[in-house]
Amino acid sequence: MSMSVLKSAEEMQRWALEQRGAGKRIGLVPTMGYLHEGHLSLIAEAKKRADAVVVSIFVNPVQFGPNEDFAKYPRDEARDLKLCREAGAAAVFVPPVPAMYAPDASVFITEERLGSGLCGARRPGHFRGVCTVVAKLFNLTLPHVAVFGQKDYQQAAVIRRMVRDLNFPLEIVVAPIVREADGLAMSSRNVFLSGDERARALGLSRALRVAADAVAAGPCAADAVRRRMSKELEKHALKIDYAEIVDAETLEPVGDARQGNVALIAAYCGKTRLIDNRVL
Ligand code: PAF
Repeated sequence: MSMSVLKSAEEMQRWALEQRGAGKRIGLVPTMGYLHEGHLSLIAEAKKRADAVVVSIFVNPVQFGPNEDFAKYPRDEARDLKLCREAGAAAVFVPPVPAMYAPDASVFITEERLGSGLCGARRPGHFRGVCTVVAKLFNLTLPHVAVFGQKDYQQAAVIRRMVRDLNFPLEIVVAPIVREADGLAMSSRNVFLSGDERARALGLSRALRVAADAVAAGPCAADAVRRRMSKELEKHALKIDYAEIVDAETLEPVGDARQGNVALIAAYCGKTRLIDNRVL
């Protein structure tokens, strides 16, 4: 089966309407490209749940802050298209920025609770950009099911909330984090890591294991667990943005850490900001 490569909003919506007209279930995998095994696992998950999978590849300027890495975010469209074809995608949506945003675009979506802490507090406007582009992608690809990665735990929670509160008629699936053999969570940004940084980046998954070990025997003071995570991150010379233990549903910091809570980390490894998380 040949894969459609769609660039304009109109082409994308027409394709989606045709699929729906033919009685097909559409699965969406939204990405910013530079695909890795983690993305491919999302496509595989979508294929199990839909007849026609569309992968969107769009580095969304609206979710990057002025001093963030929008311009240098890694891109390789030819390689991404090849990977999508091999993974069995029915369509890829690769819009240029003007196809997604009118120069005077003035409607944006803000989630006001789950997105306010953690990455939302450190990256003002980030989840407003994510919600807006994801809502647009839903309207353009008309999916029955959309698959996101647990690597962006907070993002998945914010999107679930948006889908609930704005009544989008689709199912959200969150697929597990895919890790390198040594535990580093796969990320397009890992390409920025030098040899030494790649070794130090292991501090994130190690610190999450420290948190999991700490609660394995029963609840304990979350502050003590946060300190142990921080110590592990510092041991790897990582600059901590946050190291938190939160309630899995509300994303509020907990007083006592226990199994079922989520440990989340954002840390700089050199200039590269990495995130990771683990349900304890
Ligand atoms: O997780 C990502 O890659 C992005 O935040 C998303 C969901 C594709 C929106 O731009």
